[in-house]
Amino acid sequence: MSEPDLTPLLDLLPELLAGRPLVVLTGAGISAESGLPTFRGPGGMWEGNRPEDLATPEAFESDPEKVWRFYAWRLEKLRGARPNEGHLALARMERILPRMTLVTQNVDGLHAAAGSRNLLELHGTLLVARCTKCARRSPAPEGPVPPLPVCICGGLLRPDVVWFGEPLAPETWEAAVRAAEECAVFFVVGTSSVVAPASSLALLAARGGAYVFEINPKETPIAPLAAGVFRASATKVLPAIAKALVRTIP
Ligand code: OAD
Repeated sequence: MSEPDLTPLLDLLPELLAGRPLVVLTGAGISAESGLPTFRGPGGMWEGNRPEDLATPEAFESDPEKVWRFYAWRLEKLRGARPNEGHLALARMERILPRMTLVTQNVDGLHAAAGSRNLLELHGTLLVARCTKCARRSPAPEGPVPPLPVCICGGLLRPDVVWFGEPLAPETWEAAVRAAEECAVFFVVGTSSVVAPASSLALLAARGGAYVFEINPKETPIAPLAAGVFRASATKVLPAIAKALVRTIP
């Protein structure tokens, strides 16, 4: 398999190694090769499902069992999934770069499982449930739904993820904005860049003078902002970047 051509990025690698900050924003595409479906496009989770019926507070209020069945199905898929070469390459990069922040829209926990530590999970995590009555957090339920999962206080549990129409956790979002505004280089990996506010981070980075690079086999609205695009899968491009960084270490 041929290596991707990293030419537009190579001059920036010594700067990253010297401590100029890198931000990486990921979306469902990075987990596609771990066997987890993306949301949009053929075979995506929103094909034949309306997000309004499965991923909003109103949907949960009117039919919690339907919503939990969807999340139990996703949890089941997740239990068989492992971090892939893309997740692992990002964890390796974090270990050699003085300043790298990983921001993800994913709720699958695979970045943490790969070893990434400086991680902002904008949309929460599937692995945790939260009580709708007392707000206590507990591990996500195992096994099929029904029965609906309940807290020790008797309240109904919900997935600890951010649904459409809900705000992101303010401290997580503010940290992501700060990182985007301050970074020198910004990678957008495996996201269709259509869901706000995550989609605005690349714009903030570009306005702050950062070089934006896109890693995605398909064209997205980010392309016009980008200093470079790599039209290939995350598992191909990210390990090549990690390798090039190691080769550049003085
Ligand atoms: P999408 O499903 O919208 O987009 C996935 C992107 O990954 C697409 O642009 C694909 O071309 C790309 N892709 C597919 N395979 C890839 C690979 N192997 N390597 C790199 N890229 C690949 O997913 P997101 O952009 O993450 O929000 O969706 C954003 C948000 O919308 C999600 O966090 C979720 C969803 O509704 C909530 O649930 C709140």
